Amino acid sequence: MTTRTAPPRGATARKPARQGFPPWKKRWFRNSSRIWLKRYNRNFARATKADMLVLDAGAGPAPFRGLFGHARYESADFKQYRDDQTYVCDVADIPVEDGRFDRVVFNQVLEHLPDPSAALRELCRVTKPGGQIICTCPLYYEEHQKPYDFFRYTRFALNKLFADAGFVVQKVDWMEGYLGTVGYQFEGMHRHLPRAAPADWSFWKARRTELLLQSTRAIGLLFAGLYYKLDAEWKFTGAGYPKNYVVIASKPE
Ligand SMILES: C[S@@+](CC[C@H](N)C(=O)[O-])C[C@H]1O[C@@H](n2cnc3c(N)ncnc32)[C@H](O)[C@@H]1O
Repeated sequence: MTTRTAPPRGATARKPARQGFPPWKKRWFRNSSRIWLKRYNRNFARATKADMLVLDAGAGPAPFRGLFGHARYESADFKQYRDDQTYVCDVADIPVEDGRFDRVVFNQVLEHLPDPSAALRELCRVTKPGGQIICTCPLYYEEHQKPYDFFRYTRFALNKLFADAGFVVQKVDWMEGYLGTVGYQFEGMHRHLPRAAPADWSFWKARRTELLLQSTRAIGLLFAGLYYKLDAEWKFTGAGYPKNYVVIASKPE
């Protein structure tokens, strides 16, 4: 077997994989999850009246704050993200009275909680009777905010967790369609496939493999963009599985 000696490919330290596309790619290959997330939150915000008090729980940098500009808004996160963040606390222990909030916004947090039942019970406690919660969380997404990434949820788990916490579940929807999941799989191929074959492979075996990897990476980028675009226009839910679920639930009167 012919082995190559220099330069040893694959020997250089690789940069850690990014969590998403770099900014120039984001512009051209916009992840449809962000679009669907905004659509669901916009609808929830439209159904929120001006005198209602909203809690954005696990708000992070509060990307949806503007949607609730017409209502009264408070935010909580265990890290201080903004000067105007209302509470720095665990969402399982919010320093407010029972039934304070008319609406709770709970986006992309549930998977980060080691005890999701305790957090949902607390969110139910701080919700007014008749109040509503929107929750979005992933079923299919790579590990992120490590090591604070504990769970993925099926619709059945979500139904049970919310009901056990005291909410009445109104709906559990796919947030994106399957085309969005496929787009994300293509994005993953583009970002995670290695560029170089193992250093001790024969020259032609390595070249063939690298050609395969590089063409798959290029196709991954192109198809991610095309599927994300399609998913934003056509939410196909006839087969496959969603990247995220969205739960709308209320606290009984
Ligand atoms: C993926 S980010 C989502 C942020 C924001 N909701 C959004 O939609 O962009 C998860 C957020 O949950 C917060 N978080 C995680 N565990 C928490 C906890 N136990 N109590 C309060 N915040 C928590 C993190 O600090 C982070 O800001």
